[in-house]
Amino acid sequence: MEVIIYPTYDEISKAAAAVVAETVNNKPNAVLGLATGSTPLGLYKELIRMHREEGLDFSHVTTFNLDEYVGLSPDHDQSYHYFMDENFFKHVNVPPENVHVPSGTTQNYRAFCEWYEDRIDECGGIDVQVLGIGSDGHIAFNEPGSSLGSRTRIKTLAKQTIEDNARFFESKEDVPIYAITMGVGTILEADKLLLLANGANKAAAIGAAVEGPVSVACTASALQLHPDSVIMIDQKAAENLKMREYYEWIQANKPGAPNTS
Ligand code: F6R
Repeated sequence: MEVIIYPTYDEISKAAAAVVAETVNNKPNAVLGLATGSTPLGLYKELIRMHREEGLDFSHVTTFNLDEYVGLSPDHDQSYHYFMDENFFKHVNVPPENVHVPSGTTQNYRAFCEWYEDRIDECGGIDVQVLGIGSDGHIAFNEPGSSLGSRTRIKTLAKQTIEDNARFFESKEDVPIYAITMGVGTILEADKLLLLANGANKAAAIGAAVEGPVSVACTASALQLHPDSVIMIDQKAAENLKMREYYEWIQANKPGAPNTS
């Protein structure tokens, strides 16, 4: 687990975009795992800029999103389909047939979840998975108590998450109670995990995820089990980290690429 603390949100976004761009440049048919929420907005903005100004090409890329609210159709302005179209897909050249976002309106959730898992496998697995973190430590919508081996399924949202996400809806009552989400086990199979967080309201969750025990109480702590997970955070989100100085020391003394081979 690599913890990198940046001075600003903008720098987190640019660093995360550089990792995604490198993945796509090295493997034009890369499979990207994507997240919604406010955290990755800067990353998408930077990727769109790179596409427009530097020719970053997504024409062979496939994407899988982490989750979707149950009951919201793709044209609902709070659905994650809509979010992804508005904030990323309509500005870049990922072929629409390569885009996968879980369905919030399928007639058979069990069958859909199995299909989603199979589809990830058919596409060769996820090369890099972008993650945010909930203030209760969730990744995707794997709320506290979710099995660390869980697969794509329906999940009941925690009260805390409903409260956190009420800011996007007219009222708390409008926030859906269920979501369809990749499981923790599904996420852990990605080759690389990139978890982004900023702001003081994420400090407790980041502390538990990075330095707490691996536990269903904070599903992001499962990243400790992954051989290539990178945690990109700002100073405020780093406030609860006991080994903060050590993470900063590691970054300051990181060997340069030419000397590592
Ligand atoms: C969204 C997702 C969620 C968010 C988390 C943080 O696809 O998977 O786990 O990443 O709720 O949301 P923000 O970024 O809005 O604080």
